[in-house]
Amino acid sequence: MTAPLTLTIRRPDDLHLHFRDGETMRAVVPWTVRQFARAIVMPNLAPPVTTSALAAAYRARIMACVPEGADFTPLMTCYLTDNSDPADIAAGFGDGVLTAAKLYPAGATTNSASGVTRIEAIMPVLERMAAIGMPLCVHGEVTDPEVDIFDREAVFIECILAPLLHRLPELRVIFEHATTADAVQFVESAGENVAATITPQHLRINRNDMLVGGIRPHLYCLPVAKRERHRLALRRAATSGSHKFFLGTDSAPHHRHTKETACGCAGIFNAPFALESYVAVFEAEGALDRFEGFASEHGANFYRMPLNAGTITLERRPIAVPDEVVGGEAAIVPFHAGDTLSWRVASGE
Ligand code: DOR
Ligand code: ZN
Repeated sequence: MTAPLTLTIRRPDDLHLHFRDGETMRAVVPWTVRQFARAIVMPNLAPPVTTSALAAAYRARIMACVPEGADFTPLMTCYLTDNSDPADIAAGFGDGVLTAAKLYPAGATTNSASGVTRIEAIMPVLERMAAIGMPLCVHGEVTDPEVDIFDREAVFIECILAPLLHRLPELRVIFEHATTADAVQFVESAGENVAATITPQHLRINRNDMLVGGIRPHLYCLPVAKRERHRLALRRAATSGSHKFFLGTDSAPHHRHTKETACGCAGIFNAPFALESYVAVFEAEGALDRFEGFASEHGANFYRMPLNAGTITLERRPIAVPDEVVGGEAAIVPFHAGDTLSWRVASGE
């Protein structure tokens, strides 16, 4: 079968995204607005977005960066700490200010120093969330220095997440940026209240791409890309049609000089060509007919949101990805920098 020239899908959502703040945010928001109707915005600012009032203020700052006339809705999350207030978080969810809360194990990733030190500390919040049906977004990696970085996701599932779901079987959990076959298997065998996001980079690169022939800091993110068999498991999951897997880019802008340094930041800025990156995976897997479910339906359904109106059209026409893009205070190197991708966004309505 020859590939179709265009693919029109319902407008998609990015259900895991970092916008940052200030000038960087002003520079990166339009890339996401170009492609997505809504995005789940992560709260790991410095200082983090830990309350519903801070989330409401952040939402207003985001809206001020949305280009005139664009139709885009940021969906806010609140960063859990050992001191999170269950009443505030439940009220924020009730008011529609908060869509979800985010669990960062302390020290797991960028700006996670104020994250949760032990799950016990947030049990009152999690119990409340389970009772009101508020989704929990999980960065699923342990931080124990004894645990190898490539095993941190699998160990988190075994030692933290499985026991947590045993205690709170109703808790709605999004296992963010799944990177392993272990995560795929766990999510598939868990109840309907457990789903996962998958990033474009984890569908496209393995750890060799990051480390063989020289270290490529722009391919470094957390959780770190794993060996090839995990990438293949993620591709199978994303393109399987299962409603448990959906699009979340984890686009994480860091300025070029903070990546190209002796201790580079974790994060891949994939927002500029995210749909283009994903759709080529679906084409290669013979699953273009399943792209709309992954990009525009499974996530909205899991979050119990209406599906978006309108469509976006992708065209099978090459596009060159620039070496860098404007990033506010300094330039940012996007995912696929310098490459030519086979699909591009044609138009939205
Ligand atoms: O690579 C990552 N970058 N992983 C995360 O979990 C956070 C993100 C960021 O905020 O830079
Ligand atoms: Zn993230």
